Amino acid sequence: MGSGDEKHICRCEEVSEDEIRAAIRSGARTVQEVKRWTRAGMGICQGRTCRRLVERMLCEELGLKPGEVEVSSFRQPVRPVSLKSFED
Ligand code: FES
Repeated sequence: MGSGDEKHICRCEEVSEDEIRAAIRSGARTVQEVKRWTRAGMGICQGRTCRRLVERMLCEELGLKPGEVEVSSFRQPVRPVSLKSFED
């Protein structure tokens, strides 16, 4: 989180492109590692928006082709459900 000039890759957790590139340059090699390092992908959409962008950045930084980045696991977004919806 910083100045308003930053380009956020993960809007949910406000993780910038610079933070993700720094994580990769410091040793993150998979989407999961970037996630643990920066929290990108841990927001309410569970990476639905940012996961592909992180994969693309890993390819750019590591010189990999699409598909060579380790596939990440992810959870579907969970929404609260009222108990009333289970009645009937
Ligand atoms: S945009 Fe990254 S978790 Fe939602």
